[in-house]
Amino acid sequence: MSIAVIGANGGIGRRLLPRLNEADHEPIGVVRSEEQFDPIRDRGAKPMLGDLEGQFASALDGADAVVFTAGAGGSTGWDKTILVDLWGAERVVRACEANGIDRFVMISSRGADDPERRQGPIKPYIVAKHVADRTLQQSSLDETILRPTRLTDEEGTGCVAAYFDTDPEAGDPIPRADVAQAVVECLDHDATIGHAVTLYGGDTPIEDAIQPPS
Ligand SMILES: NC(=O)c1ccc[n+]([C@@H]2O[C@H](COP(=O)([O-])OP(=O)(O)OC[C@H]3O[C@@H](n4cnc5c(N)ncnc54)[C@H](OP(=O)(O)O)[C@@H]3O)[C@@H](O)[C@H]2O)c1
Repeated sequence: MSIAVIGANGGIGRRLLPRLNEADHEPIGVVRSEEQFDPIRDRGAKPMLGDLEGQFASALDGADAVVFTAGAGGSTGWDKTILVDLWGAERVVRACEANGIDRFVMISSRGADDPERRQGPIKPYIVAKHVADRTLQQSSLDETILRPTRLTDEEGTGCVAAYFDTDPEAGDPIPRADVAQAVVECLDHDATIGHAVTLYGGDTPIEDAIQPPS
């Protein structure tokens, strides 16, 4: 499959591109500056320009599936949280519907199923993720939502703890590399469609963990 990765230059995105290649997919790395094209090519992906706050539509040309792993990050204001994490994600969902791209994997966040359980400064971000997830769930797309806990840059372990359609509050942080591998497994297993999966660091091999309970 040809898979457009939104946020390809980010922590999860950079780790995802070569893994998609290894899994015989054709990754498209969507970035917002041409200066990022070479590193995207170096990771075996075709670069495309797309700014979630600006010109975006042609970024999905030729894609069969989309992974959304963009984010405004913790050092920007809540205005960017609304424009990128919420509205940017909604724009991508609508663009997929308009372009007949059915498969969508969303990197959401632990806690996004119920923002009322979260208080403090992170709550607006969790609300943004919740609303973006809800838009995707109510769309016509075949969606899998991954809700990782706090991300780290540690090496991947190849193992996670995955919770289908439930969002427990306690668990270990998770390496970005393991989230990237979980995305690949989801794209290769249609049984994950229609599910929201909370991810922590854990000790179940990812390919086993990403199987919905029967
Ligand atoms: N950090 C955590 O602990 C945590 C926990 C749970 C979930 N998440 C979610 O996991 C996902 C990936 O996290 P990460 O830490 O790997 O992300 P990251 O390194 O912060 O990367 C985010 C990417 O989004 C891109 N981006 C920002 N604004 C954009 C725009 N207007 N148009 C297009 N692209 C834009 C950035 O582009 P540039 O490279 O050009 O800046 C960057 O490459 C995010 O959705 C995040 O919300 C994070």
